[in-house]
Amino acid sequence: MSRELKPHRKIGGTIKVPGDKSIAHRAALLSILSEGPITIKNFPDAADCQSSLAAALALGVTREDTKQGIVLRPPEDFDIPKDLIIDCGNSGTTARLLSGILAGSDVEVTLTGDESLRARPMKRIITPLTEMGAEFFADDNKLPIRIRGKRLLPFEYTMPVASAQVKSALVLAGLASSCTVTIREETITRDHTEMMLGAIGEGINVRHITPVLIEDEFDPRKKRREMPEPFKTEITVTGQARVIGGEIDIPGDFSTAAFFMAAAAISGESLTIESVGLNHTRTGFIEHLRQIGCTVETKNRHTYSGEPRGDITITGGALKGRKVSGETVVSMIDEIPLVAVMAAFSDGTTIIRDASELKVKESDRLAACEENLKKMGVKCGLLEDGLAIEGGKEMNAADFESFGDHRIAMTFSIASLFLVGPSTIDNDEVVAISCPNFYELLEQIKA
Ligand code: S3P
Repeated sequence: MSRELKPHRKIGGTIKVPGDKSIAHRAALLSILSEGPITIKNFPDAADCQSSLAAALALGVTREDTKQGIVLRPPEDFDIPKDLIIDCGNSGTTARLLSGILAGSDVEVTLTGDESLRARPMKRIITPLTEMGAEFFADDNKLPIRIRGKRLLPFEYTMPVASAQVKSALVLAGLASSCTVTIREETITRDHTEMMLGAIGEGINVRHITPVLIEDEFDPRKKRREMPEPFKTEITVTGQARVIGGEIDIPGDFSTAAFFMAAAAISGESLTIESVGLNHTRTGFIEHLRQIGCTVETKNRHTYSGEPRGDITITGGALKGRKVSGETVVSMIDEIPLVAVMAAFSDGTTIIRDASELKVKESDRLAACEENLKKMGVKCGLLEDGLAIEGGKEMNAADFESFGDHRIAMTFSIASLFLVGPSTIDNDEVVAISCPNFYELLEQIKA
């Protein structure tokens, strides 16, 4: 449905956002491989996470709802009918992570998804998992994919694309097949799979490569920093790795919190979001907010189930443009549409580079941002791998298009708060993919 969004410049208060989508996917999917039950607290209603949960249940996991949370018990056997089709809905994380589990299991299963997911690239998982020995049948490397799992071969892989989904698919394939897998990352991506296996399993080792000081051969007084390896992390799943089971307490989703943080940033006001995941591989957006002129504080830090969390208080300021590229982009990959919208309300130009991955998300997010920003009257243009946005000018209300993408719908709903006159967003129900109560939370932050 189309929703009317009225301007409201004053933001404030304290809110809580639903549980982290990435962590919830992993908790649900690990139950398929677990030896004992996994109790999950704060599992979100997000449609994407429900896709992972439904997939686990289709593969024989059983679910019990208790006061402590949902308890997932692993399948007693893996006797799956050959004609089983699992619908992953809109969820790339479900499709890619589950592919890893199925590739290393003695099953034959077909994965499919909605129109958006059926258009997304799967070659990135099909190629390495096929090299490990699994069989994939797919037209044009897209869903629907039939996967014939095999006993996989030990495998070493240097990631050609910065993707936590690919990394996790390979980790899960190793776990499912009890074979050693070593993955090297040149760019650090979110590490929730590694953290969760550390908390409720064993047999995963992560080596962080740090720069070393090298003496200059001509001038011993000078030293330079050099990486001793051509990669930043090396993740090894040993052949003995296993998921034991236990409790996962899911923190609030940083990427959902980011929408409300962006509203506070643009308004210049203060907002607190409680109990949000603060895993450092996810929080590049905090550093970005500081760089463009906001104050961000975190309090009440705790770590549960290997994942740090805390309360975030953001206070907006006079925003200024900035260039973002490389690892910075990866550390806030799902927040880039918000970076683009905040750029429109900043002084100067913002340049986003090294962001080609955004073209293959739930929509082409670079093109979606460009089109919607232009509707607001913002001067902006697509780059080969990013977007350039000129900020600080008068902007008008607009009829925004979501492109069926939850993050685009939420991003331009936030922008609407600061435009002159009412805007609209089409297909507002798409927010349920990651945050079904988004519009209620939006009401709560209006001061
Ligand atoms: C995710 C990883 C990211 C992110 C996606 C969720 C995950 O995708 O954009 O929303 O849970 O592993 P890539 O790993 O493909 O970059």
